[in-house]
Formats: sequence, structure tokens, C-alpha cells
Amino acid sequence: TSAKAQSASRFAFTPIGIQTDYQIHVPDGYQHGLLVSWGDPLFDGVPAFDHATGGAVADSDKVFGENTDGMETYVMGDSTIMAVNNEYVNPDINLPHTEDGTPQSADDVLKLQNLQGVTVMEIAEGANGWAPVVGSRFNRRLHHNAPMAIEGPAAGHALMQTADDPEGTRVLGTMGNCGAGKTPWGTYLTCEENFNGYFGATDGIKVDEITQAGYDRYGVIAEGRYGYERFDPRFDISRNPNEPHRFGWVVEIDPTNPDSTPVKRTALGRFKHENAEVTLAPDGRVVVYLGDDERGEFLYRFVSDAPYVPGEDTSDLLNDGTLYVAKFHDDQTGEWLALTPETTGMDPAEMLIFVRQAASKLGATTMDRPEWIAVNPYAVEAYCCLTNNKNRGLKANAGGDETPVGGPNPREANKFGQIVRWYPSDDDHAADGFSWDLYVMAGNPETQDGAYRGSANVTKGNMFNSPDGMAFDSSGLLWIQTDGDYSNEGEFAGMGNNQQLAGDPVTGEIARFLTAPYGAEVTGLCWSADRRTMFVGIQHPGGHWPGKEGDLPRSSVITVKRQDGGLVG
Ligand code: FEO
Ligand code: CA
Ligand code: CA
Ligand code: CA
Repeated sequence: TSAKAQSASRFAFTPIGIQTDYQIHVPDGYQHGLLVSWGDPLFDGVPAFDHATGGAVADSDKVFGENTDGMETYVMGDSTIMAVNNEYVNPDINLPHTEDGTPQSADDVLKLQNLQGVTVMEIAEGANGWAPVVGSRFNRRLHHNAPMAIEGPAAGHALMQTADDPEGTRVLGTMGNCGAGKTPWGTYLTCEENFNGYFGATDGIKVDEITQAGYDRYGVIAEGRYGYERFDPRFDISRNPNEPHRFGWVVEIDPTNPDSTPVKRTALGRFKHENAEVTLAPDGRVVVYLGDDERGEFLYRFVSDAPYVPGEDTSDLLNDGTLYVAKFHDDQTGEWLALTPETTGMDPAEMLIFVRQAASKLGATTMDRPEWIAVNPYAVEAYCCLTNNKNRGLKANAGGDETPVGGPNPREANKFGQIVRWYPSDDDHAADGFSWDLYVMAGNPETQDGAYRGSANVTKGNMFNSPDGMAFDSSGLLWIQTDGDYSNEGEFAGMGNNQQLAGDPVTGEIARFLTAPYGAEVTGLCWSADRRTMFVGIQHPGGHWPGKEGDLPRSSVITVKRQDGGLVG
């Protein structure tokens, strides 16, 4: 049989067409259900969601949060526990009593703070499908005021200290929780992405040069996006200029221990973290791949000093190690450049707090917005979604590098995105060298010419733009989720709503599996332990999905199963 015929049998589904409606669509032979929606109770005594109010502030830390994103499942005895990010809020929807979502009170701010962060919940499958186990001892909401520890080389540094935390080792909250990761020792990594928008200044910004340069490079400005600073002084950089330094980290959480304190792992660097893809080098050292999702920023890799040894203490594995940044060469080779005090000339803590500037010093390759990274479980290779870059040349932030076309970012106006793949030297994810290629360049072969047609594996039948979420299943299929233009018009005609596709890593073939409701992006993907249920995140849906006319739209985690009960993926 030809490679094409073999790959056709690789997908256990018939690809579906595009959609432009307000529903979920999956292939024939599959069914979808709803696991949980924003505002659903997680604790006893909490009333069902109220569409008139968007829920009471008093209950807002006892319900499933808004705008679901990265997630993972864990098994503890007979229990399935899900950790899932609640990335951000849509205040105009969450605060229906306000005109445009601008908080009018400290209670409004508290409600928004409570609806974000991370949800840990037990889930179970019953006669009516999967649902949260209300009142389970595992249920937690790790919102913007949840106590956390700070560890690693930046912990305790003067730039991390505040009036509330003079030691610089304790912080309240995690925010901008985008993608996720899972360690081999069973913990959850939540990734703080767009933290900068939560801070604002009520009385101007008066900081030293180093702090101002950091604000500039990370986009911390006087005009807060959510208005927190007007009611919560912690987010007012006129009063607390160091508070933003305490966000933009990867946070490790033990979902199976409800008494555990989450830990911010500063050795993994401070930037707009997308996800944290964990794998092991042949010698057992822990390798974490990390993308910084901003136009013209970089791709990173952490390698632990010590190997992971099952059964031994893992509490310092993500504290002690080296962070690297990727440099791609046009001849399809590349190298990981070590960020150290010697190579950057920076203090070890400052280097991690301002790792964007440190990476610029090394001449790292500016990227077209690195989103999720996925490591193939059956081949020594990794993939990263470079979602798009429509404004090449316009710097996202002051102090950023020039962003020339080149390497894995080959298109001037990158409207559609691409997925870069790299092959570590010596089949070792900890090696310093790699070679690379593009797994796919998204495009539109129907309306576009040249490079904008997309690579050969993009066809009229599988067109998409802006790949973002991405994960391998345990069978070795690569699942791709999109967060792009869903107008279905012009250069995006024929792509329809955001979607989830499956990719064959060997043949490159890509097939559409699921379409989202109009307005939503598809983000967050994991499976039940038996892989008979796939969990998919639907973020910022439009219309009134998943409810009826007049309902508020609610971000939700859905389930996808085969009607014959078979494996999904
Ligand atoms: Fe939260 Fe870059 O997506
Ligand atoms: Ca994303
Ligand atoms: Ca995105
Ligand atoms: Ca998003």
C-alpha cells in the first residue's frame, strides 16, 4: 500500500467539513457531551448558575472558573482528578450588571479574581455522562488570591519582595493560566501567560531603570486591562511596583493532595508562558520545553541538573537546572543557547526575572508567537505551534528585537501560522544541537498564491489557521487546536469556525475532527486514563452556547467519545 493509503487508516474517523454555526460537530460514530461550564458548582450548598447575575460573588470561588484552557487528568485510587486552567475573564459577560464589564466595586474585582486561575476537581462518569463530583475533598479553586510559594534562583531577590512579602518567597495567586503540563511524578504545571494586563497605576509609574525596562519589555503599563488596581492595591504598580515580577512563571501543583501549596518555579524563567511540555533525556534529566507567546519572543528549554528517579524526592528537580533559548539557522539546524550569568553577564535572579532581555543578549531567534509544544511519545522530536504574526516588523513591546523573516518563520505577513518540528541531536532532548523542519505551513490553497497557499499537506478539505493548542495522544497522533480568524471570508474562506484536527506525524496528513461554536477557540486537551473519553476545552464561545436563547455564553469543557465505546485517538 502507498503511504497515503496507510495514513488514511491511521485516523479512526471520517474527517468532517467546516462549520459556521453555534454548535459542536464531531465525526459520524462519535458523540459529544458537556463536562462542566463556567459557574457550575464544585462545592456543596452552591446554587446552580444564574444567567441574570453570572453568579454571586460569595459563590465565585466555589464554582468552575471562566475561559477554560490547558488541562490534565490524574488517577488517585478510584478517583479521576482533573486540573484545568481558567485563563482569563470576559468581564462584560461575567459582570452582567455593569455596562461594559468595568468593575464598579471591590466585590466586582473579587468576583473576577475568583473566576480565574486553576480549578482542581474530581470528575466521574455516570449514567448521564461525565460531571464534576460536587463536594469532593480534591476540589480546589486556586484563584488570584490563593497562597503559593516561590522557589528557585529568583526566590527572595529584592525584585521579588513586597510590603506584604518582605522575604520574596510567598505570593497570592496565579493568573493568565494558559497551557499546562504534566510531570512524570504526577504533578500539574500551570503556565502564567498574559499577567501584565492585570496591573495598572493609579498615581503614575515611578520605578528604577531596571524595573522600567522590564515593564517595557513585558508590557506592564499604567492602564490596567481589568481595573483591578482601582479596588485592590496589590495590583496598583504606583504602590506595589514589584508585584508584577511575581507573575509570569510556571507553577507546580499537586492535584492529588488538596493540602499542598503550589510552587512557582523561577528556574523556568519569567515570560508569557504558553505551556510546559515535559519529557526526559536518556539519562533521566527532566527536559521542559516552553514557549513565550508574544510576537518576536522566543522558544525555551529547561534541563534539570539531576535525573528523575521514580520514588525519590522530586521537590528540587524544577529548581536546579539550566534554561536555554533556541537559535534556528536557515540551513535547518539549530542550537540551544544556555542562559547563565557567564553568557548573559546578569545576576542569576535578574536573568530569570527578565529572561526576555537575557535571551536577546544571546541572539536567540525571534519567533512567530510560540504557543503549545508537544513531544512525540514514539519518536525523539518535538513540535511547536507558531500561531501567526500578522504584524511583522511592528514590535510588540519596547526593547524587543527586530523580527526578520527566516528559519522557521518564513513568511512576511504570517496570517495563517505554522508548526515547527525539531529533532534533537543524538536522539537526546538535552543535547545542545538539533535539526528542524516545518510539519505544516497553514494556508489557503483555494484563494492564496505562493507561500500563502500553505504546505502540501494543507488541502481544500482540511484548511485551518492559527494553530495553538497541541498534544499527542498515547497512540502517537498529533492533535492540533486552532485560535484564529473564524470569519470564513476572504483569505480565511473555507476554514470556518475554530477547530481541532488530527495529524499523522509520519506522513504529515491532517484531518479535521471537531468544529467549535462560532466565536470560540478550541484550547485544552486531555484524556481519561482508558482513553475512551477525550476532554476538549471551548474558550470564549459566541452566541449563547451551550445554553438556550437568552443565556450567557459559557466557556466549557466538553467530552468526546466513540459511540461504540472504543478508544478516542
Ligand atoms: Fe493563552 Fe498564547 O494562548
Ligand atoms: Ca493559546
Ligand atoms: Ca492563541
Ligand atoms: Ca485564548
